[in-house]
Parts: sequence; C-alpha cells; structure tokens
Amino acid sequence: MVKIGIILGSTRPGRKGEAVARWVVENARKRTDAEFELVDVQDFNLPLLDEPVPPSMGQYSKPHTKAWAQKVASFDAYIIVTGEYSHGIPAALKNALDFVYGEWNNKAAGFVSYGSAGGVRAVEQLRQVMAELQVADVRAHVFFSLMTDFENYTVFKPAPGREPILNTLIDQLIAWGGALKTLREGANGSSKTMAAAGRK
Ligand SMILES: Cc1cc2nc3c(=O)[nH]c(=O)nc-3n(C[C@H](O)[C@H](O)[C@H](O)COP(=O)(O)O)c2cc1C
Repeated sequence: MVKIGIILGSTRPGRKGEAVARWVVENARKRTDAEFELVDVQDFNLPLLDEPVPPSMGQYSKPHTKAWAQKVASFDAYIIVTGEYSHGIPAALKNALDFVYGEWNNKAAGFVSYGSAGGVRAVEQLRQVMAELQVADVRAHVFFSLMTDFENYTVFKPAPGREPILNTLIDQLIAWGGALKTLREGANGSSKTMAAAGRK
C-alpha cells in the first residue's frame, strides 16, 4: 500500500495550518487504499540548514537531519499543507524541504493550501521546488480562503465541496506514488541508487 505523509510545514505559534492538516488527516483516513501519517515539521526542531555538506551528497551529520531524513524516506508520496507568506513558501517549510535530498527523489506530492488568496502563489512556487527535488507534483490542489473557510479569519470552517477534490488528489498520489515506487525498487535495485543518480 502506498504510504502518504501529510506534512504540516507551518511552525508559527497560533498557526492555522494545524486545523487544516487535521482536516486532511480526518478525511484521508476515511480511505483504506493508502496509509496516512501526519508529519509535523515543528516536532523535528530543525534549525536553519546547518549541514556543512550539500544535502544532495547524502552525508548528513546532525541528529536532527538524520531523524528528518528517516521520516521523509519512509513515504512514497506526500500531501504538503502550506500557508502563504509574502506571496511565497513559508521559510520553515522551505528549510525542511532543503534539509535532505535523496529521500524526496522519485516520489509524488500534492498540495493543500490556505491564505487570503488560497495560498495558491505558495503552491506555484512549491511546484518549481518539487521539480528540483525530483518529486512529481499532481494536478489536483485543495485550497482554502481565509475569508470564506475561516470564521472571523480565525476558526477553520471549510465551505462544502473540498472533500471530493482531496479524494482526487489522493487518487492521483496513489497512482503516481505507486508507479514511482516501482521505479525506485526497479532494475538497478535500491532507492539509494536512484537518488545518487540524481545528485549533482
Ligand atoms: C509573515 C506572513 C506573511 C503573510 N503573507 C501573506 C501573503 O502574501 N498572502 C496571503 O494570502 N496571506 C499571507 N499571510 C497570511 C497567511 O496566509 C495566514 O496568516 C496563514 O494563516 C498563515 O499560515 P499559518 O497560520 O499556518 O502560519 C501572511 C502571514 C504571515 C505571518
């Protein structure tokens, strides 16, 4: 079964991301055709990137990097839950993405975003970052508006109709996540080999 990590990238005190990620987990777990796990970036206490060797070399020296790498490696696909800061990717999420490399390669990802404009600008940036990490980003995208999906811009009360989009996103993740798993486990063996081939 495809293993999907639901990555909560926001670490701000009072973050809205937690309620959104909870909604994703609750709805995703209604399905039995994939496994889902919530991954809260905050739990990993990642400092700003402090590895001396570029992550693409896979020579991780710090315990927090090794713990994060192990978690990232344990999934076939990801749902990234993100807000939008200054029309872009929140720094904590970008830092977490940058911290490791091979562990992301040849996986699939989909996005759930929120913000004044639905967080769509952050997701468009994320799609560019995913290409460099060798992650295949699926088309379906769930987005929430601070105006219409949060009561008083604060309490998460999603308007109806988003669950089917999340299900489409998950269908696409299962398809691509499953296909890429075959690639990672393919002819030349391990996912390590595939990751190394993509390093520069
Ligand atoms: C530093 C900062 C910059 C922001 N910039 C934007 C922005 O450019 N566009 C937008 O739609 N919302 C913006 N917002 C509003 C966020 O989308 C909103 O606060 C959201 O809840 C942030 O996610 P979080 O609560 O999980 O941290 C910004 C918020 C912060 C804290």
